[in-house]
Amino acid sequence: MLLAQGIHKVYKKGGRELRILHGIDLEIKKNETLAIVGPSGAGKSTLLHIMGGLDKPSRGRVLLDNKDLYRLSDKKRAWVRNNKIGFVFQFYHLLPEFTALENTLMPALVKGEGWRVKLGGARKKAEDLLRKFGLGERLRHRPGELSGGEQQRVAIARALINGPELLLCDEPTGNLDSGMGEEILNILFDLNRNNNMTVIIVTHDREIAKRSGRVIEMRDGMLV
Ligand SMILES: Nc1ncnc2c1ncn2[C@@H]1O[C@H](COP(=O)(O)OP(=O)(O)O)[C@@H](O)[C@H]1O
Ligand SMILES: [Mg+2]
Repeated sequence: MLLAQGIHKVYKKGGRELRILHGIDLEIKKNETLAIVGPSGAGKSTLLHIMGGLDKPSRGRVLLDNKDLYRLSDKKRAWVRNNKIGFVFQFYHLLPEFTALENTLMPALVKGEGWRVKLGGARKKAEDLLRKFGLGERLRHRPGELSGGEQQRVAIARALINGPELLLCDEPTGNLDSGMGEEILNILFDLNRNNNMTVIIVTHDREIAKRSGRVIEMRDGMLV
């Protein structure tokens, strides 16, 4: 489903070059669960962002369904990101002024489905997702009125609203206590089992890695 080939990333800072990724090759199979583990600073987030079309590699290419992500126009890449890939981050990244329902609907809005016409369908889907995740009584709460675990469940609903096939999660439980973290993991692994979702989870928690179909370890910008 996704192929990363010869990925390098170099940042230029004040005349100096910071070499972050050193030629990574990785193939993601449809419907698999993959954990990417490794110490802080290893380059896990950088790699995840590159695989998700968020950050251009300095060298190498990323093929999603045989399309080279970084040879697409910015507009087309944004479309692919919004429709084919769902992102879940450690700190949720919800918009504080908007309700759980509105946050969930945001990617559908970006898709340009206009508030009135088609949003009816998206709205129903958002409500269904939030109910499925136990947030039926929280649709009109703002992020500040939700617990960390609830906010992360809203973020997962938002990631799913446009029906992606691939979910990229960057330390999705990193900010949660173990009980709430467990709930989030159950949701992610259920999505893989019941909805054929391909799930990639960056984590430094080896317990999470144990539940994944495959584990790869990163160190100093390389797979080891
Ligand atoms: N925008 C940036 N500019 C310069 N250096 C960066 C930037 N983003 C990340 N880095 C550096 O890249 C390295 C890897 O970061 P990151 O991918 O966030 O690692 P991880 O997610 O494994 O903790 C770190 O040393 C970090 O400081
Ligand atoms: Mg990181």
